[in-house]
Amino acid sequence: MKVKGRNFVEMLSEEEIAKIIDRMASAINADLEGKNPYFLVMMNGAFIFASDLLRKITIPCGLAFVRYSSYEGMKTTGKVVPVIPVPADVKGRNVVIIEDIVDTGITMEAFLKELKNFSPESVRIASFLTKPEARQREVLVDYVGKEIENKFVLGYGLDYDGLGRNIPSLLVLDESTQ
Ligand code: IMP
Repeated sequence: MKVKGRNFVEMLSEEEIAKIIDRMASAINADLEGKNPYFLVMMNGAFIFASDLLRKITIPCGLAFVRYSSYEGMKTTGKVVPVIPVPADVKGRNVVIIEDIVDTGITMEAFLKELKNFSPESVRIASFLTKPEARQREVLVDYVGKEIENKFVLGYGLDYDGLGRNIPSLLVLDESTQ
């Protein structure tokens, strides 16, 4: 598939994604049973992952949306600005951050620092994807959907310059044809 003149090929089908979501949800349901977790969905990228994951969560939980990152094109800008801040009622709660991808870790490191100011009881991270090779900050991801190579991915909520978030499968930039 071509997006803005770049060629992308499938990395994960909808069926493969569904299996990943089931596995992640089972782990979260088991670990946080009785803990009334509070999910914080990192907008915009995590919205599709979050909607699939949360519908497989069977334990009582709370939910809010936050928006902190600033990401343009294919490179992280390093600027992290609060757009939709953390709600004050996370105080004393067992927070699970839902993120689409932890790439350099710059966004997540900055967000974790910010979140601490709101005094949650505990903080866990559920990220659909992680790119360990790209990491510039040490960030422990508790629930990982899939570890991927340091390549640009698109679809399933992730965009390339504002395009492609609606693609239901996960695509990867085909570097052989650029
Ligand atoms: P980080 O600060 O470098 O870890 O990047 C965080 C954000 O950058 C993620 O939440 C994504 O929104 C975006 N991002 C990182 N890698 C990719 C990618 O391969 N495709 C699309 N967006 C990405």
